[in-house]
Amino acid sequence: MEIFRTVQDMQNFATAAIRAGKKVALVPTMGFLHEGHLSLIDIAREHADLVVVSIFVNPTQFAPNEDLDKYPRDFQRDKDLCELRGAAAIFAPEASEMYAENQTTWVYEEKLSTKLCGKSRPIHFRGVCTVVSKLFNIVRPDVAVFGQKDAQQALIIRRMVRDLNFPIEIIVAPLVRDKNNLALSSRNKYLDENQQKDALVLSRSIFAAKEAILSVGIGEIPSICEVVKTEIAKFHGIVDYVECLDSETLEEPTEATKELLLAVAAKFGTTRLIDNILINLE
Ligand code: PAF
Repeated sequence: MEIFRTVQDMQNFATAAIRAGKKVALVPTMGFLHEGHLSLIDIAREHADLVVVSIFVNPTQFAPNEDLDKYPRDFQRDKDLCELRGAAAIFAPEASEMYAENQTTWVYEEKLSTKLCGKSRPIHFRGVCTVVSKLFNIVRPDVAVFGQKDAQQALIIRRMVRDLNFPIEIIVAPLVRDKNNLALSSRNKYLDENQQKDALVLSRSIFAAKEAILSVGIGEIPSICEVVKTEIAKFHGIVDYVECLDSETLEEPTEATKELLLAVAAKFGTTRLIDNILINLE
């Protein structure tokens, strides 16, 4: 497995792969890999000859008050896991390699990015769209795989790819949970034992809310979301949002809505967690 630290080396590999007629898949990550990320590599391998995993804690998607400095990192472990899962290369640049000091060009999706996490993290998706565009230009993949855990991010990337005509197929892989149904996230490492137990309220309450919505209908969504908020607060979660929106548009559902995205974000201690579930109405 190759490890590239510079844009030039990564681009040379991409050019050689294209010349050799190889199909390349990209799995963009911020490292500290868990089974959720590894499932993306497995899916990527099914769709391509070569899988490139990018490991880059992207500073532009963190606000100054967020956890950029303490975001967990363990490159050696990530490298071993990528190798075991059959990745062909890792692209792991420094921030100075990815961003010129005076960079003034950004990629900004202006509609979906204002919903859900975008309300409390207003610069987040600009950072994500910009870095993912850069990665697309550097790795030049045929396919890129993102996780449904970050449902809003996946929607925004799909929209960006459509709007900017990136010739890349986007695959969204199912959310992976631990044996207690906690959605896997690198940030789970921050949780102490009590917070880990408390955080199970997220999946528990959205699973119950899904059943409730399916039995009583979309008219009751506001009151069901309130119940979820109360439940999360009971387990010491500080709710950012609980929303149930049209899964394609992130608008309020209507009679025409085919599928709902029930999404939550809450803090346990200082750790902000997100979770979501899709609800098929057809
Ligand atoms: O989902 C993530 O880990 C990040 O937002 C991504 C897509 C790697 C961009 O930095």
